[in-house]
Amino acid sequence: MGSEGKAREELLELVRSLTERIRVDGELGKPLSYLSRGKVGAATAGGAGQGAAIAPSVTDAPRLEAVRAELGDCQRCSLGRLRHRLVFGEGSPQADLVFVGEAPGADEDAQGRPFVGRAGQLLTRIIAAMGLKREEVYICNILKCRPPENRNPQPDEIAACEPFLIRQLQAIRPRVICTLGTFAAHALLKTESPISVLRGRFHTYQGIELMPTYHPAYLLRNPAAKKQVWEDVQMIMKVLCEGR
Ligand code: URA
Ligand code: URA
Repeated sequence: MGSEGKAREELLELVRSLTERIRVDGELGKPLSYLSRGKVGAATAGGAGQGAAIAPSVTDAPRLEAVRAELGDCQRCSLGRLRHRLVFGEGSPQADLVFVGEAPGADEDAQGRPFVGRAGQLLTRIIAAMGLKREEVYICNILKCRPPENRNPQPDEIAACEPFLIRQLQAIRPRVICTLGTFAAHALLKTESPISVLRGRFHTYQGIELMPTYHPAYLLRNPAAKKQVWEDVQMIMKVLCEGR
């Protein structure tokens, strides 16, 4: 717990110092360019951003809805017949940060929402520790339908589903993508390197910064790995707040 508590404290300190910078910049009338899409930071800026042009784009939501409409009652792979609910994804169409997981589990299949089971609750706490709310980010998966017994996604299933993920990412155009676990990293980065090697540094996906990190379900089994995930999310926070 010791090093994990320390990492968490460091993250909270980072959030505090960024909040302070946003407040001071707001008071000095500096353009809050790092808030320019009106997303990350707005929740913690505490109204300091008066004068900053925060004009959320209205063009992204219809594009996402078009992707959902094209999926329809999808039967492009054999998982379609087995599902209760298709899990498209949820969150802000203007998100700066998109989390991409593997596939729905039983809870997600029942509710039609991503990351709502035990692993999802841990993801929600990680998002909160970043100073963000679930509604401010976007959360989705490589596969939209649950594989039986939560088995690994098969190549043909990924091939059928991935075009829709790509179009979701193109509609949102986030500044950072955070992939959760082995499958999401391998699917988007087209590599087979172990997640332990891939995580901890940014990769590029279609010009977007991509940080692979461990899956929250893995953290439930290996709590010691939370320290690395805190490191990864701190690097994400820096990119989101520095307006690189
Ligand atoms: N695990 C995932 O990869 N995605 C979910 O939505 C839930 C659990
Ligand atoms: N192995 C996995 O499959 N996922 C992780 O996140 C970590 C190890």
